[in-house]
Amino acid sequence: MHFTVNPSAVSDATVTVPGDKSVSHRALMLGSIAEGRTDISGFLAGDDCRATLAAMSAMGVQIEQRSSTELVIHGCGLDGLSGPDGSLDLGNSGTAMRLMTGLLAGQGFDSLLTGDESLTSRPMQRVVTPLLEMGASIQSHDGRPPLKIAGGQRLQAIDYELPVASAQVKSAILLAGLYAQGTTRITEPAITRDHTERMLESMGVQIQTSDARISMLGRQTLRGCPVQVPADLSSAAFVIVAALIADDAEILIEKVGVNPTRTGVIAILQSMGGDIRIENPRLFGCEPVADIRVRSSALQGGPVDPELVSLAIDEFPVLFVAAASAKGKTVFSGIGELRVKESDRIAAMAAGLSKLGIVVEESVDGAVVHGGRFGGGSLDSHGDHRIAMALSIAASTATHEVTIRDVATVDTSFPDFPACLRSIGIDITRSVSDAA
Ligand code: S3P
Repeated sequence: MHFTVNPSAVSDATVTVPGDKSVSHRALMLGSIAEGRTDISGFLAGDDCRATLAAMSAMGVQIEQRSSTELVIHGCGLDGLSGPDGSLDLGNSGTAMRLMTGLLAGQGFDSLLTGDESLTSRPMQRVVTPLLEMGASIQSHDGRPPLKIAGGQRLQAIDYELPVASAQVKSAILLAGLYAQGTTRITEPAITRDHTERMLESMGVQIQTSDARISMLGRQTLRGCPVQVPADLSSAAFVIVAALIADDAEILIEKVGVNPTRTGVIAILQSMGGDIRIENPRLFGCEPVADIRVRSSALQGGPVDPELVSLAIDEFPVLFVAAASAKGKTVFSGIGELRVKESDRIAAMAAGLSKLGIVVEESVDGAVVHGGRFGGGSLDSHGDHRIAMALSIAASTATHEVTIRDVATVDTSFPDFPACLRSIGIDITRSVSDAA
């Protein structure tokens, strides 16, 4: 499957983007082990969250699908999951795999977690190590999936200092911590998204958080509650950058999650001169949301604050596009984690932008992107949804047609991405063959 994008004029518009992926995964997992019912609205009906939905159903949870974005979970309580028949296939989703490993480490049954080619090549030792320390029994293939988890282990709480800033690892430890004796304590090297902590608290769990330290006593009861999922800022970021680099457009994106552990992308783009305003701030349960108004701006390159990296971790592909459209050079540092995402995102963006005529100097954990003008060409997404979408945004201001191969994974996080871009004036089509 490939995208074809032609030079476009982005127009003024008001748009919505699909629900937050991180919040949707957590609502499914936590709602499943809560007592009572959890009504979810704004759920992300993407392939990643569907994989989590299928896994929870396979473990006996009753989930009513009222529409593609509205679900009712009849929680079965902390000890109510049952062993699945066969392995759980988590597709492309690192979040599903890592969080589920924590959830399953303390169950009474065995399980086997697997996924697609990208997921089975991603590092899992970062979750396996702390869970083994808690008393779990997990076998991996040299630190990679499939993961074989033996049930019936007695977990003990740990005091763990995360070696990498990762909300997935933090959340896996917290999920296992729910099944452990004692108080689980975690220290983060940098603040990462805190959706798990917020949702646990809204389900009645006592959890203490202060700066980069979290502590939670095990064996607490979760109570189901309504979850209104905000629109995903990581998806909105593509529209934000499309508007910023367009000639003259003003776009309003409605009800977007603006949890401060996610808004690094806004801070970085504003520091580059981007005209981005946060309007009508409000709460969707435990999560802050707002409407985001963006106006086309003359962006200026410069050093990107490494302190913001963990708060913008999924937005670097599209930030590279903003940097390539800015005046001067933009210096990204401390972004080595990008090399172990769905693809090596530093290499994939450097390759894609270079093909469009942009100068990118790569280093082990950073890149310098020189501002320039995008030409046309045929690009490879490396099967990574965020690379496919970021390159599509670059293509909207290119001088010639751009094709982007291997884009089916866009459905993992942003179903209807081409329709959303068309609604702001971008000339994008999706074709089923990959003969681009
Ligand atoms: C996520 C955390 C991030 C992010 C991923 C979603 C989550 O991964 O890249 O897309 O939902 O917890 P890391 O925590 O491994 O950085």
